[in-house]
Amino acid sequence: MVLRQKFKGLVPRGIGGFDAALRLLWRQHSRTEPHMASVQPSFSARPERSAARAAPLALARWLLVVAMMIVTIVTVGGITRLTESGVSITEWKPVSGILPPLNAAEWQDEFDKYRQTPQFVLVNGPAGMTLATYKVIFFWEWVHRLLARTIGLAFALPLAWFWLRGQIPAGFKPRLLSLLALGGLQGAVGWWMVQSGIVHDVRVSHFRLAAHLLVALTTLAGIIWTMLDLRAVSRGERASRLTPFAALALGVLVIQLFYGALVAGLRAGTVAGGGWLDGNVWPLMQGQLFPAGIDWSQGAARALLADPYLVHFIHRWWAWLVVIVLVIMGRRLRALRQRPTSIALHSAFGAQILIGIATVMSGVAIYLAVLHQLIGALLVAATAWSAHALGRPQR
Ligand code: HEM
Repeated sequence: MVLRQKFKGLVPRGIGGFDAALRLLWRQHSRTEPHMASVQPSFSARPERSAARAAPLALARWLLVVAMMIVTIVTVGGITRLTESGVSITEWKPVSGILPPLNAAEWQDEFDKYRQTPQFVLVNGPAGMTLATYKVIFFWEWVHRLLARTIGLAFALPLAWFWLRGQIPAGFKPRLLSLLALGGLQGAVGWWMVQSGIVHDVRVSHFRLAAHLLVALTTLAGIIWTMLDLRAVSRGERASRLTPFAALALGVLVIQLFYGALVAGLRAGTVAGGGWLDGNVWPLMQGQLFPAGIDWSQGAARALLADPYLVHFIHRWWAWLVVIVLVIMGRRLRALRQRPTSIALHSAFGAQILIGIATVMSGVAIYLAVLHQLIGALLVAATAWSAHALGRPQR
């Protein structure tokens, strides 16, 4: 045990050499100190075998695929929300819900359930929604849920496979289980969000929407980080640590993502007006720097979290704090010669700002708003990558 402590820092972690190296050192030590030969050191039972089995690179590749699937589902989630499709399926049936209605009677039954929702009673019913138009909004929500199930399986089944084959490197099991738990939590949060839109209101709660988006993006960041750690382990390097500056950058970004979700959930993208290259729409809002019309009557906290004008104002200006922090991050990456990471980060936040402004000017055109959601997810991935690069142990 003492030996294990003594030589720990000298032997690279994760390439399976630790126990083997300890055995070698022990043999040499026993030769020079014969009285120690009878002492049994506490090495693991089959160290070389289990270490040789670890497959960090295979796990990293698998996690990259899952990360790409999450980016896809975030984008489909944006389409689902923007086409007002989110509450079209009124029940949560994790297994039987895989199949859409298969005949006219089943379709009618599904449509009848949707016709009980406030959204149909107050909005789509009076607007004359038919079964044919209902099928369109059903499609997006169904695809969204199908993708969610697919991602669940694409995570859980390979995880079980790697686990049973003993291919998960030491220290990664709790992390992978936490990521699996986050996926499960996301399913529950998603249903909790949908419920808010089928029971009381014509649209889902903007807080629950924000929770749903943030759990998805946290899972994405966690998967990227774990993937990069696994790649490091495959090269015989140590895992990264989160530096205080990277934690600050991620914190500033999370606030921006949260406010973005509030803007989306409150349909606050249009409160500044619309019009291409119109300065009254951006940088001003309805011709004013600080928007008129904020409702302070229910207190500042409510205004900060639920007033569409104030929420939109905060989102469009907090973006520049994000830019400042990420530019500093980019400079630090360059100092560490992490040029590709820095380029990815700059491209992502640059595009995100431009698309955000275009989304406002277009009066929230669906294709731009979806692109804004997609690039938002890519920016999270790029920032997680950058934070990981900043925390890599220096050789
Ligand atoms: C780094 C900067 C930014 C980040 C990370 C970011 C992120 C987000 C996120 C995550 C959402 C919610 C996702 C969605 O449902 O679309 C959102 C929504 C939105 N953002 Fe941003 N955003 C940024 C900058 C901006 C800027 C500069 C503007 C405009 C001046 C803007 C305007 C909007 C609008 C209008 C929405 C609502 C779109 C909708 O209703 O779908 N964003 N943003």
